[in-house]
Amino acid sequence: MTSDHAGQAAVLCGLGAALPPRAESNVELCRALDTSDEWIRTRTGITHRRIADAGVSTADLATSAAIQALASFGPHPVQALVLATTTPDHQMPATAPAVAARLGLEGIAAFDVAAVCTGFLYALATAAGLIASHTANAVLVVGVDRMSLLPAPDDRTTRPLFADGAGAVVLRRGPATEPGALGPLVLGSDGTHGDLLVAPHGGHMRMQGPDLFRHAVDRMCSASTHAVQKAGWRIEDVDRLVPHQANARITSAVGRRLGIGPDRQVQNIEHIGNTSAASIPLALAQASTQEALQPGHRTVLTAFGAGLTWGATTLIWPDLKPADHNPFYDTPRERT
Ligand code: COA
Repeated sequence: MTSDHAGQAAVLCGLGAALPPRAESNVELCRALDTSDEWIRTRTGITHRRIADAGVSTADLATSAAIQALASFGPHPVQALVLATTTPDHQMPATAPAVAARLGLEGIAAFDVAAVCTGFLYALATAAGLIASHTANAVLVVGVDRMSLLPAPDDRTTRPLFADGAGAVVLRRGPATEPGALGPLVLGSDGTHGDLLVAPHGGHMRMQGPDLFRHAVDRMCSASTHAVQKAGWRIEDVDRLVPHQANARITSAVGRRLGIGPDRQVQNIEHIGNTSAASIPLALAQASTQEALQPGHRTVLTAFGAGLTWGATTLIWPDLKPADHNPFYDTPRERT
């Protein structure tokens, strides 16, 4: 367990999600790109991706998800906001202080973390550190991205994959034995392969898909195995694997190699797309809403992203669902 000498840990106790209402279908995308619904579905598992309208900011999505997470946490104070994003609204300042101010939390510590699709796990580790060091008793963690801004409009390799959304959780100090207590966090990076997925300043994203695919499977498998061992579990004990939703073929390959069958994997990329730092909390929000994730489930979170970066952790799923308005009950808006 990620716990201090008194057996205390960072415990997950609030959950929220925000999705733009517009769902772009493969059929719609085919009008702009030289591709097909069949190619995208069979290579990525995606049929729709959520795309924010022009004028919707990263802070807008983050604030919506954070409001829900704070509502499910109850009327307790948080002392810090850690926001993971690759698409901040400005080069400076960071997006977190603006979100904190919009939540009426001006005065708390607020900063961004940049680890691309692994950003949510890096942010969880940072929040757990703030709690362990007694800098904060409770921390709001947001994973948010507007990844649809990064591909070139005519890039058929990246545009079908990436999407927009936000997910948020609250971590608070609590007993390491409590459901929701984060287990040991495994994090890593390898900048020697930084060229596999790059968006240069002022330019569009470039991706070397097949190489990235192999690294994603290798790194999520090894990080998950390591986190499970450090938690004192066995892979057979895992009830739910919640991987970063990079591509359905990647997440299926991770499950297969680990020996975690499809019934024990959470997959929701089909109607959402790859939302980068938002993808794990969005998957948690949807799975808990639809009861694919239930209290007591031994859960592994794992992610991989540009950098390269990767990570994993474990927790026993607590009795937790997003509060208030939940986007997973909404009917998405499609253009015909
Ligand atoms: N529609 C039709 N054809 C496409 C296409 C599209 N949207 N995108 C690529 N192609 C073509 C390529 O041009 C290539 O054609 P060629 O053989 O004539 O050169 C062919 O399909 C195969 O391309 P390849 O890149 O080898 O396909 P793939 O099976 O590896 O699938 C990805 C491509 C991007 C779906 C896959 O590599 C992938 O998902 N990689 C990981 C991406 C990822 O997760 N990134 C985020 C990490 S967090």
